[in-house]
Amino acid sequence: MTVHFIGAGPGAADLITVRGRDLIARCPVCLFAGSIVPRELLDYCPEGARIVDTASLSLDEIEAEYLAAQEAGQDVARLHSGDLSVWSAVAEQMRRLDRLGIDYTLTPGVPSFAAAAAALKRELTIPEVAQSLILTRVSGRASKMPERENLANFAATGATLAIHLAIHALEKIVTELTPYYGADCPVAIVVKATWPDEKILRGTLSTIAAQVAAEPIERTALIFVGPGLQAEDFRESALYSTDYVRRFRSGKGSDET
Ligand SMILES: C[S@@+](CC[C@H](N)C(=O)[O-])C[C@H]1O[C@@H](n2cnc3c(N)ncnc32)[C@H](O)[C@@H]1O
Repeated sequence: MTVHFIGAGPGAADLITVRGRDLIARCPVCLFAGSIVPRELLDYCPEGARIVDTASLSLDEIEAEYLAAQEAGQDVARLHSGDLSVWSAVAEQMRRLDRLGIDYTLTPGVPSFAAAAAALKRELTIPEVAQSLILTRVSGRASKMPERENLANFAATGATLAIHLAIHALEKIVTELTPYYGADCPVAIVVKATWPDEKILRGTLSTIAAQVAAEPIERTALIFVGPGLQAEDFRESALYSTDYVRRFRSGKGSDET
C-alpha cells in the first residue's frame, strides 16, 4: 500500500500532470484539500472510490484515513494545490507515514506562482533587471516566519517577490517594501489564477492598496513586486546571440531554456 502525494496544480483541472491524473485513476482512495483543489479532478477517481475532503480534518484524522487504507491494502491519492514543494503540509504527513512504515511517492504539480506569471504573460526573470525570484509569505495563524526571513531582508536584494498567503497584509507589505523598491515599483496581484473567476490587478506600490480597497479580494491571491514586472527596455539574453551560437553551440550545444 502506498500514499501518492500529488500536486493538483493551481486550479484549472487540465493543469495536473499526466502522471498525477493516472495515479488518481488508479487509487481506490482519494484525499483532497477541498478548499483549493478543483472538484473536476475527482472525476478521474475510479468508480466506487472513497473520496474524502480533508479541509475540516485534523492531522490525526488524516492519519486515521491512511491507516484504514493500509489495513484495506488500498493505495491513496493525496491531492494538494499547486506543487508539493511549497506550503503543502506534506512534510508533516510524510513524517507520520515514516513512523507508521507506510510507503509514499511525490508527484509535482504546476505551482501557483508559475500559473500566475502565465496569467500576467510575464517572464519573472529579466536580463540585468531581475534574475532571482523569492517565493515567500507573511506570518499567519498557521505558522510564524523565521526571524531573518522578513520582507526587508528580501527587499534589500531588489529581486522579484512572489508573496503567498498574504493578501490580508497588503498595506503592511506596501509600507515595508516602499523604502527599498520605491513608490513607483510595479505590483501585480493575481487572484485565483486559472480558475474561471481569475482576476488580475496591476498597479504600483503607491496605488495597489487603494485598488484592492475598491475591489476587495478574499484570498487565494499572489502578490508580485519588483521592477522586472514591467521592464520593457531590457537587454536581450545572450543565449540566442549569433556570437553565443558560434562560440558555445557550434550547432550541437544545449539550449538550457
Ligand atoms: C497553502 S498555499 C499553497 C501553495 C501551493 N502549494 C503552490 O504550489 O502554489 C496557498 C497560497 O498559494 C497561493 N495560490 C494558490 N493557488 C493560487 C491561484 N490559483 N492563484 C493565485 N494564488 C494562488 C495563494 O497565495 C494562496 O494563499
